[in-house]
Amino acid sequence: MADMILAWVSALLRWTHVVAGIAWIGSSFYFIAADLSLRGRAGLPQGVKGETWQVHGGGFYHIQKYLVAPAHMPEELTWFKWEAYSTWIFGFLLLASTYYIHPGLYLIDPSVAVLDPRQAAAASLASLAVGWLLYDVICRSPLGRDTRVLTIAVGVLVAAASELYLRLFGGRAAFLHIGALVGSLMVGNVFFLIIPNQKKVVADLVAGRQPDPRLGAQAKQRSTHNNYLTLPVLFLMVSNHYPMTFGTGHARLVLAGLFLTGFLVRHFFNMKHAGLTPYRWLWPAAALVMIATIAVTLPAPAKISGPVSQAEIDGIVAARCAPCHSANPTFEGIAQAPKGIAFDTPAQVSAHAAEIVQQVAVTRAMPLGNATHMTEEERAKIAAWTGR
Ligand code: HEC
Repeated sequence: MADMILAWVSALLRWTHVVAGIAWIGSSFYFIAADLSLRGRAGLPQGVKGETWQVHGGGFYHIQKYLVAPAHMPEELTWFKWEAYSTWIFGFLLLASTYYIHPGLYLIDPSVAVLDPRQAAAASLASLAVGWLLYDVICRSPLGRDTRVLTIAVGVLVAAASELYLRLFGGRAAFLHIGALVGSLMVGNVFFLIIPNQKKVVADLVAGRQPDPRLGAQAKQRSTHNNYLTLPVLFLMVSNHYPMTFGTGHARLVLAGLFLTGFLVRHFFNMKHAGLTPYRWLWPAAALVMIATIAVTLPAPAKISGPVSQAEIDGIVAARCAPCHSANPTFEGIAQAPKGIAFDTPAQVSAHAAEIVQQVAVTRAMPLGNATHMTEEERAKIAAWTGR
């Protein structure tokens, strides 16, 4: 009963997190594209950097951007911040309800690091806070003056954090945490920098002072980081459905491939929206990086040969999988057969043969966190099994 309620709580948190995320990323993409399409012309009002025309929903929009602010405070002003904040809040609650409540299931993998549940949750929490502090220090340091140097420095920070997560948690949790950390940096940018800077500008306007243009420039730098980080973060957030990304022993290369691909694709669109001719090599380069990433994850043929009987397989699955994958799961914390996949009868086992081999032998994503202590010999037998 408690597990069923928790499953519902988790479903509702995920729903809200995804909807808020769509609203946030959507408005972020919109504003970056609008910003890049601004064009200057003679006769624009004082303080306007550029304007752009758009058509949508049966009418035309005429948008002008004041940099850093208009001479007077407008009567009505729409802020864009709750999209980002609520994405983080519901995402964090989802992280906690998934990983902190059943750490043995999702977070801890004893073959990676033997942590007790409290240590694992504390490491997860601390990493998000420390990650933000380091990122902010790097951006404010002299490294932040040169965008290229800063990009490399932030890349090194994310790589170091990824390495740490891969040494602390199971692959699935590690990937999710890299996404959560980078997502937290993005929301931190909104909460600690972009919005406070905008508030200072508004206060200056109200007081009749000239706002400091550096406030706008600083906010712009962080919002550009957010823009380039979006695509990799979105992939990492759904990566738990794709164990081949974290489970094949090449997690680091896959991560590098995902970040690079996301960066190249984003750059293409940014150039296009800025009215520049995008570098033609961006798409082929992104495709090559992705193909190389896929290639490193392709499985080597199973080394184990020899006949494996169906009865042996049924026995392994009954012992190692059915505690969770059953119409009536016995494993604590599992309310119903995960993803509706049950292995109560040999027919069910055969019907899922391909997925079983994939999950157990190719990606090693199952048993989840090796909670049922599957042995290497058993994995080898599954690998050698023909599925019939
Ligand atoms: C400790 C509980 C547990 C055990 C043991 C377990 N699984 Fe799972 N399995 C899960 C959960 C939870 C999910 C759903 C994961 C998710 O939400 O992405 C899952 C998902 C799956 C999926 C669907 C994957 C997808 O994303 O579509 C397959 C296939 C699977 N398990 C096979 C197995 C096999 C085979 C075994 C035994 C070797 C096994 N599982 C052992 C908990 C378990």
